[in-house]
Amino acid sequence: MSALLPRIVIRLLAPRKTAYDPNMTYSRYAIEDTLIDDLIAGYRPNYSLEQPFYFSPEIFEEEFIHLFSRQWQFTDHISRIPHKGDYFLFKIAGEEIIVVRGDGNTVYAHFNVCRHRGSRICLASEGHVKQMTCPYHAWSYRIDGSLSHARAMSEDIDRSKLSLRSCQVRVFEGLIFINLTPEGTGLIPDFDTIVEPLRPWLAQADLRHTKIAHVEEFRSKANWKAAHENYFECYHCPGAHPEWMKAQLHALRDALGTKSAIEKFEKRNRVWEEKARKLGHMVGNLNNSSDHSDAENYCTQMVFAERMLVNVDAKDLYNSLTPDGAKMPTKLLGTYKEDDEGQVDWGIGPSGFGYTTCTATAILRITPRGPVDTDQVVTWLVHEDAKEGIDYDVESLSWLHSATIGQDRKIAEDNQAGMSSRAYEPGPYTELESAIPEINKDYIRALAYGRALRVNANR
Ligand code: FES
Ligand code: FE
Repeated sequence: MSALLPRIVIRLLAPRKTAYDPNMTYSRYAIEDTLIDDLIAGYRPNYSLEQPFYFSPEIFEEEFIHLFSRQWQFTDHISRIPHKGDYFLFKIAGEEIIVVRGDGNTVYAHFNVCRHRGSRICLASEGHVKQMTCPYHAWSYRIDGSLSHARAMSEDIDRSKLSLRSCQVRVFEGLIFINLTPEGTGLIPDFDTIVEPLRPWLAQADLRHTKIAHVEEFRSKANWKAAHENYFECYHCPGAHPEWMKAQLHALRDALGTKSAIEKFEKRNRVWEEKARKLGHMVGNLNNSSDHSDAENYCTQMVFAERMLVNVDAKDLYNSLTPDGAKMPTKLLGTYKEDDEGQVDWGIGPSGFGYTTCTATAILRITPRGPVDTDQVVTWLVHEDAKEGIDYDVESLSWLHSATIGQDRKIAEDNQAGMSSRAYEPGPYTELESAIPEINKDYIRALAYGRALRVNANR
């Protein structure tokens, strides 16, 4: 009781608001529930979001209820847990999930919370287990989460009701996704419906038969939407990403966006498309506009893909995304017939985004850890038989995305710091940032939809 008292007093002393006031600084006290509705109702299309969306713990909690816990979250590549009993911990919004390999291709995901008195069970961030044994009183759980041993527990207690709480798991092209909502409960989007349109765009690379060559973690002191919005625009690229501007032909279109720059990109890309088509390689865009089902209205998820030419000019010697123009890695992925210097720019939002060339993939995972705490993890995949030092070297493989995401972390943190200022107010997006208002619109719609559902359920 004594610990609660100061919080109650602070709430009573805090100025009580009847409507959201953009001139107030809401970081000073908890946001009342009705203000969240005001913020949602006051959403201005084509403007960045109101300040509390970028740091409020109350809104983050709403996002957990209505978004994070109902979306399919990308966790990692299947090669991270090749054998039965291999596991890693996936952390999202204060939760820890044990992602563990079972028999054959089975993957389980369990909350890392003991069913006795709630202790963490797996303490190391990754490892191998025969069973999962809680360090507190040694309750043991099988890989599938069922309770196998609870010393001195009364026979009256039904052990079948004490399995670990589990998440739903799907493995798509070797990529492990989880959904925190248990099977058969809650309104969640159908995984296959979401990802199937993307399959042909990834199938040629056959990511199922790749392995992790390198991982870099960029944990940023920023709200996940600062990182997410940043990913969806290249307006910032000319000032922020010198390597990206050199290596990526599509920066002409997406970062500069002038008529002549777009024409230059399209002209070179068209010539490349002819060559890629002759090889039977995909070109163009995934057009994935479809009507939203109720579940999709609630839990916004989307996929996108575009396959296009990578490099700018031969004279720049940037090729296959390596710094010196060397064709690294050398082992072709999947069914690609030759390295046509193309790449698939793809994503399964809001958590997994990739660039897949004919020989390698870089995947960015964006995962919210807290209101101002976001994981940005880049994982590089190469052919499962590729040998380091012969078929690839990590420095060449990783230089572009390592440099770019490192720069993006700083951008997100600087952005976060400014957005937390008393002087911040939402600003207008440019045409080069046109994807963000679309994302924000879906985000606002999902929050509004979920809150209305909850209100109706409570009646
Ligand atoms: Fe896990 Fe007691 S809390 S065995
Ligand atoms: Fe960037």
